[in-house]
Amino acid sequence: MSQARRVAFDTLRAVHESDAYANLLLPKAIERAGLSTADAGLATELTYGTLRRQGTYDAIIGIAAERSVLEIDPEVLDALRLGVHQLLATRVASHAAVNESVELARTVLGRGPAGFANAVLRRIARDTPGEWMTRVAETARSDDERLGLVYSHPVWVVRAFRRALAAEGRADELEALLSADNISPRVTMAALPGLAEVPADVRRTAYSPLGFRLGGGDPEATVTASEGRVRVQDEGSQLAALALTRFAPVRSGERWLDLCAGPGGKTAVLAAEALAHGARLEANEISPARAGLVRRAVAGIPSDIPVSEQDGRVRAEAAPGTYDRILVDAPCTGLGALRRRPEARWRKSPADVPELSSLQTGLLSAALGALAPGGVVAYVTCSPHLAETAAVVAEVRREWGAAATELSARDAVATASVGELDLPAQKDGSGRAQLWPHRHGTDAMSISLLQRV
Ligand SMILES: C[S@@+](CC[C@H](N)C(=O)[O-])C[C@H]1O[C@@H](n2cnc3c(N)ncnc32)[C@H](O)[C@@H]1O
Repeated sequence: MSQARRVAFDTLRAVHESDAYANLLLPKAIERAGLSTADAGLATELTYGTLRRQGTYDAIIGIAAERSVLEIDPEVLDALRLGVHQLLATRVASHAAVNESVELARTVLGRGPAGFANAVLRRIARDTPGEWMTRVAETARSDDERLGLVYSHPVWVVRAFRRALAAEGRADELEALLSADNISPRVTMAALPGLAEVPADVRRTAYSPLGFRLGGGDPEATVTASEGRVRVQDEGSQLAALALTRFAPVRSGERWLDLCAGPGGKTAVLAAEALAHGARLEANEISPARAGLVRRAVAGIPSDIPVSEQDGRVRAEAAPGTYDRILVDAPCTGLGALRRRPEARWRKSPADVPELSSLQTGLLSAALGALAPGGVVAYVTCSPHLAETAAVVAEVRREWGAAATELSARDAVATASVGELDLPAQKDGSGRAQLWPHRHGTDAMSISLLQRV
């Protein structure tokens, strides 16, 4: 059995047994096993691909094994998932995919489970990926369930995406979105404005004036060499931070606050913009460990940025009428970043949403209270779920009445962008900007701007 497959299998087990995060665990496992670059690539593809496609693979395994996957031993199930991924989604030859997975099952679990794995995988290997997709789709009881099975998303997530796209009249893009979630994003870099230049020999990204892609090489080495002035950052995150700093010219001496700052990606952009325009930035993050990451993120920026470690609601309420610009990059389900967190879609549940919406509403409302008259808060989530985006803003606007007004975040994002963005109006009449992986190549960031009157 190849080492790459063993590393992938062990990572799948840790993700399923101990709620580990694949993107944190896998690099360490690869290093421990001393994998070559090619094998490291294979282990990563197998792990991420299997985790993303787990919903589809479980449906296929269920049909081939003629039993629910809940009745299959979890270790055997992970070996099967890994085998199905190789059979249906990679160029690994069928016999190798079956033999390697059966050997894995035999080494880890013994002869009996290996025989079962062998029978199930041979059955799956008999038909093409297209035939299996048709068979899986036929088991669905609704269109959303069909899309969930075919594109490997929980059905509640499919529904949330459908509604969010329909809110801007683009429900017909649902399949493109689900499909985009199953592809690893390319690494995007940001050159902090005024502190680093976009290198001349790289490809710029389409929208952010800070964004570019490396032709090759290790992104982290570039970050280190630049002392953090060049960073790895999704282009949507760059635009969200710039929407706040560039929707209107900055007056020297403005006070800014980043209320939920960890791990500090957007703080670094805000800090560079503040430095360039004579504004003063403060940051806050409830988790001490993540507050440490924020301090590290701004360490290479020559200005003093105090970082507090409080509940953002308490932090904001303690400073009424103080700030000119506040970023609330709120804790959320993260449904907009499923491309980069392969197991995330299986970890969240609809039950998480009401608690998050209530926290988001509290943070946004408290931030409005901390604004000086005329000050603006950017409310940002890396989730497009309407309960975390439009509904939160609507609730806070109801609470604040005439004391708060909404600005057009779509105009602000378009102003910050160097390329033309396809940002349709929201049917609710709000100024909310929604970015999408399938349309913009970014995480699905939602951005709203509220001004204290
Ligand atoms: C979406 S992340 C922010 C990402 C960050 N702005 C960046 O670009 O790197 C949300 C952050 O809010 C923090 N958080 C959660 N609850 C909070 C609260 N009540 N007050 C302040 N921060 C909170 C989380 O620990 C998390 O670091």
